[in-house]
Amino acid sequence: MLTIGLFGFGCVGQGLWDVIHRTHGLRSRIARIFVKDKHKARPLPQSAFTFERHDILNDGSINVVVELIDDAEAAFEIVSAAMRNGKAVVTANKKMVATRFRELLELQRESQQPLLYEASTGGSIPIIRNLEEYYDNDLLSGVEGIVNGTTNYILSKLSVNNEANYYDVLHDAQRLGFAESDPTLDVDAWDAAYKTVVISAHAFGAVIHPDDVVRRGIATITPFDVAVARSHGCDIKLLSRTSLHNNKLIAWALPTFVPHTDMLAHIENETNAIRLHGAFSDDQLLIGKGAGAHPTASAVLSDIAALKYGYRYEYKKLFQNDIPQFNTDISTRVYIRGDESHLKSIDFIDVEIDHKANNNRYLIGRTSMRALAESEPFISSECFIAIV
Ligand code: HSE
Repeated sequence: MLTIGLFGFGCVGQGLWDVIHRTHGLRSRIARIFVKDKHKARPLPQSAFTFERHDILNDGSINVVVELIDDAEAAFEIVSAAMRNGKAVVTANKKMVATRFRELLELQRESQQPLLYEASTGGSIPIIRNLEEYYDNDLLSGVEGIVNGTTNYILSKLSVNNEANYYDVLHDAQRLGFAESDPTLDVDAWDAAYKTVVISAHAFGAVIHPDDVVRRGIATITPFDVAVARSHGCDIKLLSRTSLHNNKLIAWALPTFVPHTDMLAHIENETNAIRLHGAFSDDQLLIGKGAGAHPTASAVLSDIAALKYGYRYEYKKLFQNDIPQFNTDISTRVYIRGDESHLKSIDFIDVEIDHKANNNRYLIGRTSMRALAESEPFISSECFIAIV
């Protein structure tokens, strides 16, 4: 019997309550729920809740802590204390996992307790356990895809309706429970960067920092950018990619022109899709809901169920000899829309399209990923940049 102490009762926490009560035969129960706000109205009796972390952390009858709060620092304190107190932990906190990866490895070693975090990446898609178990022996060369539901929801709506207002659509994504409490984490691609870090570790054994991921979001997109992509037979998607180039790892989370001939262009709304390039398996695409209460809770539920048979990550790729080094020195084709001074400040290897009309100026050309990431337009709030 698993007796669960739950931290957080927001969108995913409430989703987990539902899915546990609708899953027969799991033999698990939520004994106590920690929440911060004493005055918020909640759909369960007050006795289900505590406002003291230690009521769960020091309760010897609770053997599993499920951590679903959105503060990564507080989450790390809770997870560390729980594991040191002999409890297995399931978390959905991608920021905590990505920024504290090595400390969490050490905690698992020290406490001998499992830490599972399938829900941190790709929502309902079972990517981490697949990378751990199924792709253990295949020679992966890259993992790429749509790993943020909020931005995919926004980009889908902007793509079908040229009149749609970016802020209205973002607001809908918040209302539907897809966005983070601070939605800049979604639209500035931090969320996708955290997930890219988690995938890099499990796919290639490379533990990188979220700051290493070449990252730029979608907040500066305009209907003009959508129309340019369309004229090239593409839709714009925020893609995450971690891949090997001459045994060096490159990781990015960037808006990308995805051709309509590519299945990723047809992944709509909050759905996520992750494509794995394997030497023997060739390409495989995993598709599933990437955000929302029940889809995310389903991944948490799957981790809870896995604890019943003693499952834990082995991190085999982390302990292999040839862990790839991080590198941003590859050339890439990009679209940059901005004013003359922005476009001039990028060191292009070659320029294929140089467009000037009706106050709209853009270039499509080849540059190095490093030059792009270090360029002034890359941090400008007036440019839109996409990989082509
Ligand atoms: N805000 C995240 C997203 C939630 O939109 O994908 C799921 O991780």
